[in-house]
Amino acid sequence: MPTWCVPWLLQVLLLLLGLRFSLGAPQQQRPPPHLVFVLADDLGWQDVGWHGSQIRTPVLDALSAAGVRLERYYIQPLCTPSRSQLLTGRYQIHTGLQHEIIWPCQPSCVPLDEKLLPELLKEAGYVTHMVGKWHLGMYRNECLPTRRGFDTYFGYLLGSEDYYSHEHCVPIVSKNVTRCALDLRDGEKIADGFKNMYSTNVFTQRAQDLIANHQPEKPLFLYLALQSVHEPLQVPEKYVEPYSFIKDEKRRKYAGMVSILDEAVGNITEALKTRGLWNNTVLIFSTDNGGQTLAGGNNWPLRGRKWTLWEGGVRGAGFVASPLLKQRGVESHELIHISDWLPTLVKLAGGSTNDTKPLDGFDVWKTLSEGEPSPRKELLHNIDPIFVDPSPCAGSSHGASPQSNYSWADSIFNISIHAAIRQGKWKLLTGNPGCSHWFPPPSLFNESKTMSSDPLTKKLWLFDIVHDAEERNDLSDQYPDIVKKLLIRLQHYYKNSVPVFYPDDDPRCDPEATGAWGPWM
Ligand SMILES: *[C@@H]1O[C@H](CO)[C@@H](O)[C@H](O)[C@H]1NC(C)=O
Ligand SMILES: *[C@@H]1O[C@H](CO)[C@@H](O)[C@H](O)[C@H]1NC(C)=O
Ligand SMILES: *[C@@H]1O[C@H](CO)[C@@H](O)[C@H](O)[C@H]1NC(C)=O
Ligand SMILES: *[C@@H]1O[C@H](CO)[C@@H](O)[C@H](O)[C@H]1NC(C)=O
Ligand SMILES: *[C@@H]1O[C@H](CO)[C@@H](O)[C@H](O)[C@H]1NC(C)=O
Ligand SMILES: *[C@@H]1O[C@H](CO)[C@@H](O)[C@H](O)[C@H]1NC(C)=O
Ligand SMILES: *[C@@H]1O[C@H](CO)[C@@H](O)[C@H](O)[C@H]1NC(C)=O
Repeated sequence: MPTWCVPWLLQVLLLLLGLRFSLGAPQQQRPPPHLVFVLADDLGWQDVGWHGSQIRTPVLDALSAAGVRLERYYIQPLCTPSRSQLLTGRYQIHTGLQHEIIWPCQPSCVPLDEKLLPELLKEAGYVTHMVGKWHLGMYRNECLPTRRGFDTYFGYLLGSEDYYSHEHCVPIVSKNVTRCALDLRDGEKIADGFKNMYSTNVFTQRAQDLIANHQPEKPLFLYLALQSVHEPLQVPEKYVEPYSFIKDEKRRKYAGMVSILDEAVGNITEALKTRGLWNNTVLIFSTDNGGQTLAGGNNWPLRGRKWTLWEGGVRGAGFVASPLLKQRGVESHELIHISDWLPTLVKLAGGSTNDTKPLDGFDVWKTLSEGEPSPRKELLHNIDPIFVDPSPCAGSSHGASPQSNYSWADSIFNISIHAAIRQGKWKLLTGNPGCSHWFPPPSLFNESKTMSSDPLTKKLWLFDIVHDAEERNDLSDQYPDIVKKLLIRLQHYYKNSVPVFYPDDDPRCDPEATGAWGPWM
């Protein structure tokens, strides 16, 4: 036998032995998995390759193709709401954050008596890192990510900023000034050494460094909340060049931004592999809300956009990739919501949710990993009694269709309130759900196909979402009993909600003295 055969045979033998061991002891304790959560900002349904987008996302396509694509996965229609539900596992009606977002000068943050996901994972023995956008309030030190369970933090505290200068401008009305100041922190310290460096590169590099320096014996939780692909539309030119075929300028730039996001996820997974962590990692990729059609995003063929309760606002692009999944290369059509990650991840981590407030999320690991039916049968999208549409889309009132008479409905639930609920295949919307048009990608734009013909006075819709994901056929007249049942559920949630907390701006937020946005109380 040639000598090179010996080590080869030995290897095969060892491999078989290893296989026997792992097969023979399926219940064997494996170390808790590393958890990596990548949250994209404002990425739309029609902005990823696997939904047929003209924007190319080869990394995300490949990762999701080898994992579980979430095709009935829901998020909230806005940044703060989704992020708050991700980290608390609770609906906004239970945290007071039902209305809009936390604006820079509002003295508000996720209530301090909420126990957040990183705290729970820390208790379970995890090392916890956050990189990127916080947007869960910062008016006092106790609100900062480093005080809420993250061992380290590098990122920005507000909702958006310039990708290069890392500055954010805010009108401070009571002072009659617009203040522009830095919003970037390393831990709690102002980080001013990153001017002219594109945030996606900076954040990805930090995430790669954290991974490279991680001690593999310790379980890792990395929450990477990238700035991509929120406006302003900024990206290095080389990422835009491949999209010269897109005529619409916003969409073209936006496509470049999606490309660098895709590359970033590739670099992160490479870093996990290089460090030898990947075989025990669960990576979740999710958007935070639907695409903003005013800033290059797109949700076609879904209705509406960011800020709305239509599917285009709340049905998100997302997937799970992990060698630990028992089923791989599948699409999940089970109902899953962003509030489900907290119980799911804490359970995977071997932690406990005993000390949280009552959760609205469900542990969906078996749904993801084994294809079991989702434990979630119902989903409250939101109830916001003071909703105002900041960018109403014009002209929704042509072709007024005959109005049903819902006067009986108001005796159950005030249907002037902006609200939506899902139960099984049914979705009920009330009040003004926000811009109700359909927005094809600019290349397919044809106005006659896009305008909603609902009269502006219309206040109630019922859809069979499983068969009509585009929300084109209102069935409320045909199924008054379903309407009634769902209104009763809405009223139940409404009755048990905490009041909206939406304080006035505090002019003391002014960063004139410090040069950076941050705690002022
Ligand atoms: C606010 O500032 C602008 C220009 O800086 C000035 O024209 C205007 O009079 C000011 N308004 C008030 C109420 O002070
Ligand atoms: C990914 O890694 C490559 C190679 O190191 C680098 O050139 C690129 O800038 C990185 N991309 C991002 C988004 O950080
Ligand atoms: C993952 O890979 C590392 C190094 O290659 C190895 O030591 C470890 O046992 C593997 N873990 C699992 C769960 O397969
Ligand atoms: C959580 O509660 C369950 C049921 O009451 C109990 O069995 C378990 O020991 C508790 N876990 C922790 C970590 O307190
Ligand atoms: C119903 O809700 C609307 C919108 O929030 C509000 O303006 C109105 O006062 C409410 N009506 C009643 C009777 O509470
Ligand atoms: C609509 O409701 C009003 C007020 O309850 C009632 O007077 C009217 O008859 C109803 N119209 C129809 C078409 O049912
Ligand atoms: C737009 O759509 C309408 C209805 O489907 C069709 O009749 C029309 O020809 C289309 N126009 C263009 C420019 O594609």
